[in-house]
Amino acid sequence: MNDSFESERQLEYIEKIRKQNSGRTLKYCSVVFGCQMNEKDSEKLCGMLECMGYIKTEYEKDADLIIYNTCTVRENADKRLYGRLGVAKQYKRDNPDLIICLCGCMMQEEHVVQKINTSYPYVNLIFGTHNIFKFAELLYAVIETGDRVTDIWKETDLIVEDLPSRRKYPFKSGVNIMFGCDNFCSYCIVPYVRGRERSRKREDIINEIRALASDGVVEVMLLGQNVNSYGKGLSESVSFAELLDEAANIDGIKRVRFMTSHPKDLSDELIDTIRDNPVIARHIHLPLQSGSDRILSLMNRHYTKEDYLRLADQLRTKIPDISITTDIITGFPTEEEKDVEDTLDVIDKVCFDGAFTFEYSKRTGTAAAVMDGQLSKEKMQEFFDRVLKKVQETSKKQAMRFEGSEMDVLVEGINEKDPSMLTGRISQNNVVHFKNCGVSVGSFVKVRLDECQGFYYNGTQVF
Ligand code: 5AD
Ligand code: SF4
Repeated sequence: MNDSFESERQLEYIEKIRKQNSGRTLKYCSVVFGCQMNEKDSEKLCGMLECMGYIKTEYEKDADLIIYNTCTVRENADKRLYGRLGVAKQYKRDNPDLIICLCGCMMQEEHVVQKINTSYPYVNLIFGTHNIFKFAELLYAVIETGDRVTDIWKETDLIVEDLPSRRKYPFKSGVNIMFGCDNFCSYCIVPYVRGRERSRKREDIINEIRALASDGVVEVMLLGQNVNSYGKGLSESVSFAELLDEAANIDGIKRVRFMTSHPKDLSDELIDTIRDNPVIARHIHLPLQSGSDRILSLMNRHYTKEDYLRLADQLRTKIPDISITTDIITGFPTEEEKDVEDTLDVIDKVCFDGAFTFEYSKRTGTAAAVMDGQLSKEKMQEFFDRVLKKVQETSKKQAMRFEGSEMDVLVEGINEKDPSMLTGRISQNNVVHFKNCGVSVGSFVKVRLDECQGFYYNGTQVF
């Protein structure tokens, strides 16, 4: 359900807070943990805060309001939040008016909210993933009453459009195309904390991208947990491939990326669409998770090693310059030597251009958390090291294939270590550093990739 009434209500709360804040210089600090979905949600929160009159600061210690957008996909994300909250207690001591807000995936877990209630009483506002559009209303209640406000929804079918957003980059932006996930991979907490899959209407997405393009955005990243199943439940019949193609044909949009694809839903239509439209990036992130059929079945992934190899082969045959990156989990319950051998075999055969490797992390409430055969820390580490070594080899080898070629590069910024250099990305997503000859950030330039340094290149701009 798309609710324009709700967005109007929220804009009224934003206005009320803006009036209260007028004449005062109040600063906010936004801290984001986790994935691009959270980054995108935080851009919306920042947009709302700026409309309320708050000014951004990068430092929690200088802020009058801190908002932590949390992640719970692996345990270390949880630990990082508690560390940060411990430090924030000191800031609150120095500035008792400081407002501390918590939102995002971790807050959807009951045991987390209980822990915050007992151990972090100085937190002012807690809300979850389903009601971030209500931020202004909830913050208003905190300011008015001085009480702690907690509002966590278990589910929603609401998609609230047209609230303000503050983009991190002027020239590129993420665009949500769907929320939630219905896949229930057995290790994954996401379906529990982000709810059921809901697609945004095609028209809303396309209008947002058009507006971004007229505001100077040249690259968009279409975001969803499983973009290949986009469109389910919409009254209009539209596939992800159609949406992607339409996005890539919008005037002013020069590059379109998307994240994340699930191998079980990757269609021939999508592969052909990428091949035929050069605006679509030559990059696909296609999480493998494991190369072992037995583990894949326990993970509830609905594909086999052979299925994955067939897909990768199709991608490489139809689009030879595509880069394929992946996610791999090592140490899933019951994983053995021969399972890891299968994973290493897939890495070798697909020759991944890049991979995020994770040690399995037990998430309370998921099916895998109660499986027998949880691995020891040592075994997990051993498997992890072997997988990591192999993906480093293949990604280095793959990056070498572009050495010497001239590529279109989107200039993303001035090099942090050396301001005489610029940093950009090629369509395949690899980073390139090259001498700053006066081009502006956000423009596309031709760069020769002179030297491959493993994950990045040193290049020269070609005139
Ligand atoms: N343990 C380790 N890695 C996980 N991921 C998701 N859940 C877990 C978990 N419990 C990884 C998957 C996913 C990526 C975003 O995070 O590889 O693709
Ligand atoms: Fe988690 Fe699987 Fe959904 Fe990805 S597809 S968010 S891994 S349940």
